[in-house]
Amino acid sequence: MTLDGPAGSGKSTTAREVARRLGFRHLDSGALYRALTFALLDAGVPESAWAGLGTEQIKAFGVSQHPTEGGFEVRLRGRALVSELRTAKVTDRVAALARLPAARACLLELQREAGAHGRLVADGRDMGSVVFPDAAVKVYLVADLAERARRRLLETGGAASEERVARQADAISERDGKDSGRDISPLRVPEGAVEIDTTRLTFEEQVAKVVDLVRRLTL
Ligand code: DC
Repeated sequence: MTLDGPAGSGKSTTAREVARRLGFRHLDSGALYRALTFALLDAGVPESAWAGLGTEQIKAFGVSQHPTEGGFEVRLRGRALVSELRTAKVTDRVAALARLPAARACLLELQREAGAHGRLVADGRDMGSVVFPDAAVKVYLVADLAERARRRLLETGGAASEERVARQADAISERDGKDSGRDISPLRVPEGAVEIDTTRLTFEEQVAKVVDLVRRLTL
């Protein structure tokens, strides 16, 4: 099944828990985009040179993923990446990388290979529209911008004061604009997706809704 939606809609945390309850593997496609961004920054490739890289050159950086019990470990030349994927520097640059056709082509292969390891809950921006268009169940999560900003702040351990929520909302809105406005694989509701607005749902409610839907449509 696929789970798409804008930044801060609760995709990744929901996907992880839904996968756990259903006994599926969780594919966090954003982590792959982040890993490639980290790889380019770590290798000191200036951003002005990113667009000139071909798919083979991008593959050669050595981002890979390996199945674990409930999901996949993302590695860079054999080294597991975890905290490296969530730094402000990577978060700031990842939208620029996600616009590059060569990067998307390279990661498309990795994401489709993940499907060979059994049933998936795949979360991202184009899971239902491009990567797994034939998925049995497609979900698109939405939530009000202010609520998404509040959740992001709480997730990163910050206080959700009015001023900080407003600043975070601006940052998310900018990233939404980049994700939706790009020419290649823009963020949009995939054909056949069920839209769930999580603004007024608790985490438990949103997980239960998705799990119910998968059970109803596939079991
Ligand atoms: O979900 P996330 O915040 O980890 O995503 C990081 C970035 O990667 C975000 O700017 C959108 C991009 N992305 C994408 O373009 N396609 C995906 N399937 C997943 C993420």
